[in-house]
Amino acid sequence: MTSTDYTPDMTQPSSRFWDKIADRYARQPVKDEAAYQEKLQITQSYLQPDMKLFEFGCGTGTTALTHAPFVDRILAIDISARMLEIAEQKAQVAGVDNVVFQRAAIDDYAVPDNSIDVVLGMSILHLLADKDMAIAKVHNMLKPGGVFVSSTVCLGNTMKFFKLIGPLGRALGVLPLLKVFTTQELVDNIKARGFDIEHEWSPGKGTSVFIVARKPA
Ligand SMILES: C[S@@+](CC[C@H](N)C(=O)[O-])C[C@H]1O[C@@H](n2cnc3c(N)ncnc32)[C@H](O)[C@@H]1O
Repeated sequence: MTSTDYTPDMTQPSSRFWDKIADRYARQPVKDEAAYQEKLQITQSYLQPDMKLFEFGCGTGTTALTHAPFVDRILAIDISARMLEIAEQKAQVAGVDNVVFQRAAIDDYAVPDNSIDVVLGMSILHLLADKDMAIAKVHNMLKPGGVFVSSTVCLGNTMKFFKLIGPLGRALGVLPLLKVFTTQELVDNIKARGFDIEHEWSPGKGTSVFIVARKPA
């Protein structure tokens, strides 16, 4: 288990909000445990013991550590040092040694093309300044036939007003960067990048969407 240093740069997304809430985030129970378990199961139906998995925005590492026994290795990145400290502690307690946590932003992170079997982006695309950049990057790093598993809050479905209050909440430090788009817009973006959508599911009230998208072989 290793964690590399990361020098904050003003051109980079800020980790301040996430560092501040990391301990609370780690203690909070998952909002919809049944939906979370279903997402884990669907993801695991795509995993094989020889696979390399990459996760961005891994947070406290719960999902990566759950999938670790089912793949060869996992590289999991996040911008928040505190989230990663908690992830490393959990890995130690669980005795998991095939996950590397690294402090990095997906925005400027380089992964060799065609090198990854499965990419996870759970609760992260709506938090990026440029989700299309991330989707393109994921497409490049995946091997032909590889899959991108994502879960995304689509505030544009029912809460377009976040376009107005989001920036205020961010300025006050009570909200992270939040982008507002609909499920349909996200699906269109993923398809436009060349993915085939294999699974699309909106649990609960339909504010979030779970998508499995395949890069054609
Ligand atoms: C809502 S949490 C989701 C954590 C985890 N994936 C989960 O499902 O519980 C979002 C995480 O993304 C990280 N994050 C935000 N912007 C990021 C970026 N540009 N690159 C990498 N990680 C980022 C935050 O630090 C935070 O840990």
